[in-house]
Amino acid sequence: MKIAVCVSGGGTNLQAIIDAIDNGTITNTQIEVVISNNADAYALERAKKAGIKAVCISPKSYESRAAFNEDFLKQLNSYHVDLVVLAGFLVVIPPEMIKQYRNKIINIHPSFCGTGYYGLKVHEGVLARGVKVTGATCHFVDEGTDTGPIILQKAVEVKQGDTPEVLQRRVMEQAEWKIMPHAIDLIANGRVSVEDGHVIIDEK
Ligand code: GAR
Repeated sequence: MKIAVCVSGGGTNLQAIIDAIDNGTITNTQIEVVISNNADAYALERAKKAGIKAVCISPKSYESRAAFNEDFLKQLNSYHVDLVVLAGFLVVIPPEMIKQYRNKIINIHPSFCGTGYYGLKVHEGVLARGVKVTGATCHFVDEGTDTGPIILQKAVEVKQGDTPEVLQRRVMEQAEWKIMPHAIDLIANGRVSVEDGHVIIDEK
C-alpha cells in the first residue's frame, strides 16, 4: 500500500509511522510522500532524514483558498497513493478531496471526538471537572469535523494535577503513536471495511 502523510507540525505521529514501518509493526506499506502546509514543520526534516520525499504546499503561496485546494489535490493525485494519512494536519480537507478519497483518508484526533481541549475543559491551566479518562481516536475522514467512521480508539488515564501539556504527551505516547500505525497496518492488510458508516475489522 502506498501512503501520503500530511503534517503541519512536529511530526511525532509521522515518526511513529516511519518507525513502525522500519520495525515491521506496519507491513505492506510505503510512504510515497510527506506533505506539509507549513514550510517550518519539523515533520519535513523527519521525512528527509528517513529518505522520504517531503514537499510543502502552503496556502500562503496561492491567491485564494480554492486555488490552494485545487493544486493540493492535483499534487496529491500525482503520487497515486492508496491511503492519505492526516498526522497532525491542521488544514480543513476540501469536500472535493473527501469525495475522491472516500474511506481513503484517515485522521488521528487527540480525544474521543468531543468538543473542547481533549474533549475536556481547561481552567487556570488545569483540567476542569476531574474527568478521569480521555484518549485518542483514529477515524476515516468525512465531510464533518471528526465525525467519520471510527477505526480504533484507546483510553488514557487523566491524573490528578495534569496540565494540558502533560496530558497531551501521555495521550500521544500511550494512544496516538500506537493506534495510528496499527490502523495503517490493518488497512494495508485488507482487514478494514466500512459498512453503513461503521468500520468492520476482520479479527482473523
Ligand atoms: C497530535 O496530537 C494530533 O493528534 C493532533 O495534532 C498533533 C500533531 O502532533 N491532531 C489534531 O488535533 C487534528 N484535529 P505531531 O505533529 O507531533 O504528530
